Amino acid sequence: MIYPIVAYGDSVLRKEAEDYPRDSEDLTSLVENMFETMYKANGVGLAAPQIGKSHRIFVIDSTRMGDDETTGVKRAFINPEILDEYGDEWTFEEGCLSIPDVHGDVLRPEKLTIRYFDELWNEHEEEFDDMTARVIQHEYDHLDGVLFTDYLKGLKKQMLRAKLVNISKGIVKVDYRMRFPVKR
Ligand code: NI
Repeated sequence: MIYPIVAYGDSVLRKEAEDYPRDSEDLTSLVENMFETMYKANGVGLAAPQIGKSHRIFVIDSTRMGDDETTGVKRAFINPEILDEYGDEWTFEEGCLSIPDVHGDVLRPEKLTIRYFDELWNEHEEEFDDMTARVIQHEYDHLDGVLFTDYLKGLKKQMLRAKLVNISKGIVKVDYRMRFPVKR
């Protein structure tokens, strides 16, 4: 099942998401649907708030990011906790399925250690680096109501303002299904 992706301006993207309850039965199908929704939109990561669900869940597939398929991972992260971030900070031009047609340079640490559950409730503690770490950091931010545009500053941010208002109204060209918060 493919969900519409929630657009910039929706309050669900600004909420701190709640842990996903352990006794829920539909976790595997939710994860499956999140992957399906992400692939349909050609994304490399998708967080539950982006489909209107304020849960601490995100999925990533960094094997789709080009350079080197062997370093990428396809994975679901349930109730994750980033334990540490380290290494040199580096800049990459990020985008977000909730903010179509907007890109901006974001500085993030190169590596991280994260504890999380997979969709079968197995617990993992793992280190990630490079593009995989970056995608995780971006998606993890979504669980805390943080968007990559929050890191942009000065002129770049000013220039974006009108564009972001337009996105919230649905005035944007996008080739996947979205849900816009503001009625036109
Ligand atoms: Ni995003």
